Amino acid sequence: MQILSVVGARPQFVKLAAVDRALRRLGYEHVIVHTGQHYDLVMSQAFFDDLAIAPPVANLRIGSGSHAVQTAGILTGLDPILEEHQPDWVLVYGDTNTTLGSALAAAQLRFPLAHLEAGLRSFDRAMPEERNRVVADHVSDLLLAPTAVAVSNLAAEGLGARTVLVGDVMVDALVAVQAQVASAPGRYLPDSLRNGPYLLATVHRPATTDDPARLAATLHALADCPLPVQLLAHPRLRDRANRLGISLTTGALHIAEPLRYPSMIAAMSASRGLITDSGGLQKEALLLGVPCTTLRSQTEWPETLQDGWNVLVSDPQHLVAAVSRPRPPGLPPTPFGDGAAAERVAVELGSWQSDRRPRR
Ligand code: UD1
Repeated sequence: MQILSVVGARPQFVKLAAVDRALRRLGYEHVIVHTGQHYDLVMSQAFFDDLAIAPPVANLRIGSGSHAVQTAGILTGLDPILEEHQPDWVLVYGDTNTTLGSALAAAQLRFPLAHLEAGLRSFDRAMPEERNRVVADHVSDLLLAPTAVAVSNLAAEGLGARTVLVGDVMVDALVAVQAQVASAPGRYLPDSLRNGPYLLATVHRPATTDDPARLAATLHALADCPLPVQLLAHPRLRDRANRLGISLTTGALHIAEPLRYPSMIAAMSASRGLITDSGGLQKEALLLGVPCTTLRSQTEWPETLQDGWNVLVSDPQHLVAAVSRPRPPGLPPTPFGDGAAAERVAVELGSWQSDRRPRR
């Protein structure tokens, strides 16, 4: 059986690492195609190196661009690769433009299509990620859901018969890297984070970066925080702040490059709290027992909100109060599975009867 994974953006490489390991362990042929949506060393190749992922057979090099340019580039680039490999399954991940383009390409050519991390909903169609994941779910043949909430979201859209609860493969990836980091903590924590308590921050969503007033308010709020804020600047944030002439180093705010995955886990673990507008990081913070403050009005991971481990802040004016809250007592909940999700993904892909797959 041959499974062809399509990935292209940072969070997908982490999920891919866990899936690639499980597929190879079970003896499946795993072909990886990179769309090239992310291309900087630290946004892309570093994940393949650090997480020992097999190299892609092709890179479509779509690069940066509008939603149309990225999606169209994937559609035209992927067609000949799918025809050449004739995979038994095409596996797509998460909610990026890479997910949308590759899901459409596979569905239009009638290759069996599985969507990993299916069923997440923020119920905010203004987010490109929400539109991407809804379309990917509806054109897929097999929906691999990470949580019980995702399963019920899919059932509510009439997709229950195609859904399987597998757990979250990011837990698998995190468990593996946590062991690596714990064995040599001094090796992974960047020097700039060794001088006392700090808050770790990431900001990259267009809703935050592309609205000048909101970006300025967010950066002011970060600068007013009661502890030093180490802001790991995604290229989109740097670009927008530069264009608007907004400083990224005022008050409590310190700017740093995005980190490689093991260093990110070390940096989050050592922080007093995370401030983010990312999806996946909210969940990683919970798994690491780090309080999270999310700069959004909704989340596709509502499980993280339990006991105040994650707090949503839609108005940046309320950020300082939210990050000053006491740490929740006790241990965080564990709603995302047991770290064996990738193995279940591999078993599901292997066991689906051929008569349930689409006819070519
Ligand atoms: C994408 C995903 C988002 C995910 C994020 C993780 C979509 C719609 N969004 O957002 O869900 O959370 O990746 O990082 O797919 N750039 C570089 N170097 C790179 C990659 C990007 O400089 O290696 C810059 C470019 O200026 C580009 C901008 O970052 O225009 C945005 O990149 P893009 O891939 O379009 O979206 P992300 O914001 O990264």
